[in-house]
Amino acid sequence: MASSISRWAAENALGVADGAIRRMFELGARLRRESSDPVYDLSLGNPHLEPPECWRQAVIDLLEDEPPGQHRYMPNAGFPAVREFIAQREAERFGLPVTPDDVIMTVGAAGGLAITLRTLLDPGDDVIVPAPYFTEYAHYCRLVGARLVAVPTAPDFRLDLGAIEAALTANTRIVLVNSPNNPTGAVYENEDLAALAALLQRASSRRSRELYVVEDSPYRDLVFEGPPAASLMSHYAETVHVTSHSKDLGLAGERIGHVVISPRAAGRSQLQRALPFANRVLGFVNAPALMQRALMRVLGTPGGRVDVTAYASNARALAAGLGELGFEVVTPRGGMFLFPRLPQAWIANFGESADIEFADRLAKRRALVVPGAAFGRSGHLRVALSVPSSEVTGALAAFRAECQAFDPDPKRAPGGHFGAAAPSTLPRIE
Ligand SMILES: Cc1ncc(COP(=O)(O)O)c(C=O)c1O
Repeated sequence: MASSISRWAAENALGVADGAIRRMFELGARLRRESSDPVYDLSLGNPHLEPPECWRQAVIDLLEDEPPGQHRYMPNAGFPAVREFIAQREAERFGLPVTPDDVIMTVGAAGGLAITLRTLLDPGDDVIVPAPYFTEYAHYCRLVGARLVAVPTAPDFRLDLGAIEAALTANTRIVLVNSPNNPTGAVYENEDLAALAALLQRASSRRSRELYVVEDSPYRDLVFEGPPAASLMSHYAETVHVTSHSKDLGLAGERIGHVVISPRAAGRSQLQRALPFANRVLGFVNAPALMQRALMRVLGTPGGRVDVTAYASNARALAAGLGELGFEVVTPRGGMFLFPRLPQAWIANFGESADIEFADRLAKRRALVVPGAAFGRSGHLRVALSVPSSEVTGALAAFRAECQAFDPDPKRAPGGHFGAAAPSTLPRIE
């Protein structure tokens, strides 16, 4: 029968490409329905920390005492005063002369990515992304007829510059870099970003069209060890930086973020006009008004950020616990996730689908994580840090029990399977 909806919607919304994370979400709901026993859900990157108290107070104050007209339409790029405030902060952060015209307030980082990709890409263009990577990128690229080209990172998740260079073709339009990284927690070193910039500059000099960097950094203020997250804005002129306050202020549901155009970008003035236009016609129109205004009262104030030590201590506890069980763990320096590699015995037994097998068996013990294949690297699990520490303890107990009960035969796994997903149901890596 002919589909009632578009081919894109049928393939993507009803298809199997979105399988792994959604499946875990549905499994969690089912486990909670079936029993009131706790579920240790480390599958989603939903910030569990409440927004800072000063944000709550700012919203109350703004509503109690405001001039008329604060909730109407506004310029598509956002309130001028808010853009000026953000531009000043970003100029300081990046050491660049960022002006309000370089700042576009967006509906979260996702909205920022959507308008940036729509503005830069033509059908047939390629977007290179270091893998493992945030699965939604594949959808964003498909929406504009572009192709996501996943390029592996090193085993410790550092950028593999040789692999990126080898993947560059005449079709490459964007290198999409996400640091601190979802799913690995890697925070790219300044020297690696400088080397990447040098490589891209060399490649650009041989091309007629700009080669852009889109830097997706919603976790940039969630760094809990070492120096702050470095940025390609300092190294590469054709950079568009995308960020949000979904994580540092715990406002994922309020949808507030922004895009910064590098003041050194050759296409700066075109981007300044085109990005707000994309914000308008993609249906965002403008970023939420109240959230924009609240930022001016919260950012940079004492207590104007969630306490990242909660993520740091979860990272340490999970890294230590999983390390003892034979997982190979690169302890994350920031972000909200850990991406451990399964013990060798599991890989030897289950090969490519070891991560799916383990996640399925763990779910039987009421602990949820996402198989790494969903992010472009099998043999790993993505474990979210954004949960209360009691859930970390519960999940670690489930990991321990599963490792102790290790039985390579799925038929003898405790309680059988949940109708395990075959690898083919995981997102296609293009
Ligand atoms: C890497 C990455 N980019 C973008 C986003 C979207 O963030 P936002 O909620 O600000 O739209 C997320 C959300 O989890 C993410 O992990």
